[in-house]
Amino acid sequence: MKHRLSTMVVLLGLALAAQGVAQELAPITLPAPQTDGGKPLMQALKLRASSRAFAPDPLPPQTLSNLLWAAWGINRPQEGKRTAPSARNWQEIDLYVVMDKGAYLYDATAHQLKPVVSGDIRAAAGTQDFVKDVPVNVVFVADPKRMKGAPPDQVQAYAFADAAFIGQNVYLFCASEGLATVLRASVDKVAFAKAVKLADDQLVVFAQSVGYPKK
Ligand SMILES: Cc1cc2nc3c(=O)[nH]c(=O)nc-3n(C[C@H](O)[C@H](O)[C@H](O)COP(=O)(O)O)c2cc1C
Repeated sequence: MKHRLSTMVVLLGLALAAQGVAQELAPITLPAPQTDGGKPLMQALKLRASSRAFAPDPLPPQTLSNLLWAAWGINRPQEGKRTAPSARNWQEIDLYVVMDKGAYLYDATAHQLKPVVSGDIRAAAGTQDFVKDVPVNVVFVADPKRMKGAPPDQVQAYAFADAAFIGQNVYLFCASEGLATVLRASVDKVAFAKAVKLADDQLVVFAQSVGYPKK
């Protein structure tokens, strides 16, 4: 009952935020990713950790660009393949990037953020207190329509595995850049699906918060 009430409160807030609608939100063309920097892999692995203490400062566009490319960008343009593996190259995971101005969908081909919902819906990207104030919450959403031939009872397992590789890319990027991050299963999937108007068959897998460490 308490859970249902809090879902309703979140949904009400989101409905108000969504009145600002996506057309007011411009696409964000990200600068080209810088793919030759960062710490050596072994140092990044040494530093990889979850953190739940974030500063409110936004990420600069270049950092956001590098983060999304590292997470799930295209690293072999001729084949359209990505920085993370996916079962049978289904590429079924979409990244919803939820920031203070609104929610966007990461288009890896254009390396652009497409507007989804304007307004601050960060509270719908997780159930932990810090989520509503973190500058970037990335929500991993699987589209089973792309998973041709997946046995229905294995769709979720493949989607979770594929999303986890992206999550580890985010962890390693953050370790390399001195950013704070935590992968989270704690997302109210119903509230988030409503907030960004997912189709019934789309599956919210996890979310991951990213920001500067709290000073
Ligand atoms: C699948 C998965 C789900 C997780 N969900 C949450 C979560 O909802 N909230 C949270 O604060 N941390 C979550 N974590 C982070 C773990 O708590 C964290 O990885 C673990 O405590 C080990 O700490 P470390 O990542 O610093 O090594 C999750 C991690 C994984 C892999």
